[in-house]
Amino acid sequence: MKEKNQVREHWGGSLGFILAAAGSAIGLGNLWKFPYVTGQNGGGAFILVYLLAVLVIGFPVMVCEISIGRSAQSDAISAFQKLSTGKSGVTHMLGLFLMLGACGLFCFGKYGLAGIFFLVALVIFRFGWATVGILSVVTPFFILSFYGTVGGWTIAYFFKGLFQQLNFTDAASAEQTFATFADSFGPAVFFQLLFMGITGSVIWFGIKNGIELASKFLMPLLLVFILILIMRSVTLPGASAGISYLLTPDFSQITPHSFLAALGQAFFSLSLGMGAIITYGSYLDSEKNILSSSLMIIVADTFFALLAGLAIFPAVMAMGMEPSAGAGLAFQVMPLTFNSIGDHLGWLWSAIFFFLIFIAALTSAISIAEGCVTCLIDHFRFRRKNAVFWTILLASLFGVFCSISVFNWNRLPALQKALVWAFGASDNSLFDLMDHFSSNYLLPLGGLGISLFVGWQWGMRHALTELRKGGSEVTDINFFALLAGLKDDPLSKGTHSLTLSLILGILIRFISPISVILVFLYNIGWLSLK
Ligand code: PHE
Repeated sequence: MKEKNQVREHWGGSLGFILAAAGSAIGLGNLWKFPYVTGQNGGGAFILVYLLAVLVIGFPVMVCEISIGRSAQSDAISAFQKLSTGKSGVTHMLGLFLMLGACGLFCFGKYGLAGIFFLVALVIFRFGWATVGILSVVTPFFILSFYGTVGGWTIAYFFKGLFQQLNFTDAASAEQTFATFADSFGPAVFFQLLFMGITGSVIWFGIKNGIELASKFLMPLLLVFILILIMRSVTLPGASAGISYLLTPDFSQITPHSFLAALGQAFFSLSLGMGAIITYGSYLDSEKNILSSSLMIIVADTFFALLAGLAIFPAVMAMGMEPSAGAGLAFQVMPLTFNSIGDHLGWLWSAIFFFLIFIAALTSAISIAEGCVTCLIDHFRFRRKNAVFWTILLASLFGVFCSISVFNWNRLPALQKALVWAFGASDNSLFDLMDHFSSNYLLPLGGLGISLFVGWQWGMRHALTELRKGGSEVTDINFFALLAGLKDDPLSKGTHSLTLSLILGILIRFISPISVILVFLYNIGWLSLK
């Protein structure tokens, strides 16, 4: 049992918090997903849409998550309980809405989703707003299961690069090498457990001596490594094709779908919608400026996504490879690309590349697990070490199923049958299902809950009080006066001026929930845009 009234740990400084939160945000979403999602959605034009999504929805939700966490000074479940009166009209409406959704899905034969909608509705009726916090404890297990698997692959591929075992020169052997390893059961599971173990060992030491210290060391390393790779990539002859693939805006490819893809990507990439940022915010003290920290985190994440594109596409295109999606791009095309550069250093570039993804994945996995750990500590009164042990153990066991089923779904026939019955997905592995389910359903649901909570329950007034604590007088500046360079002009401070706080309030109350609901409906196939 934890002693009562123990002083809550806090980040040592703003920089530590910003680096840790940026570490959470910068992960597989940037290095893996962003480049190909951008490529598929019209390159530069998509980047503009993505920036819009980050600024208009990502930024306000990030501000809300940090404010909720800091105001409550507790884990996500307790935070929603503390800051609300439990149930309210909005939660009842939401529950009812989900019940109706469950009936509809059931009629369409989507039993799995119907079951999940039904369950979430019941939890909402029973626990009110704390449901959003409960989601934050459930979602990590889903995300960690595939994150741990990929994290394990990156460690293995780092060593394979270093020991020159990735010296294939054609696509077929690259694929063969990857399939043999990822389907190997023993090694794949070993490296997945190793990745989870490393994640746990950082959290074990707590906020200041664990997460903050690791982030201060790993984040600069991440930047150095990606800059090295970019320099190699963009100086290859023919690299400009890759740069224009990424940056030339092709507005004809912008469709309503691009907006939705951008929003989903923004949520995943900024770590929003599952309490990771609420948890990190809860370790922040009241002198720190939430607005400027949020801005720095989202700028770092977006900047890094662009850097990842610059490291990957010029090299891939210069070597005449196909920039395909997902695991294939990182684990097959990239080593192959490095091998064909012809400087006999392919092994070194591969090792650097996989080490880079490993660090990015590690700092994200840390934040995903910490949400659960903090919850066990604050809400269920566990000691940190016990909380870390149980979280990592459970998430690792869950992940083993993912790990062994990536290529060979038939290893888990009963589970496969059950999931195919529930979700109707026949050719997807458990791995794909976890990825798909958490990114497309759980995170948007969490994001919706957070914006509705701040906009309609806790209230913008409270959120603003929290924001003003860190010296954010910026919230009350007339937005147009700020743009016009008249920030301190007394006459520009009229009562009818459009202040940043007003803009934030409108975004949170209306724009953000409506956008998330649209994405959600689109994801479950109830909104078609063609
Ligand atoms: N933001 C991380 C990435 O880009 C993933 C993540 C999602 C981390 C949700 C924490 C919470 O890979």
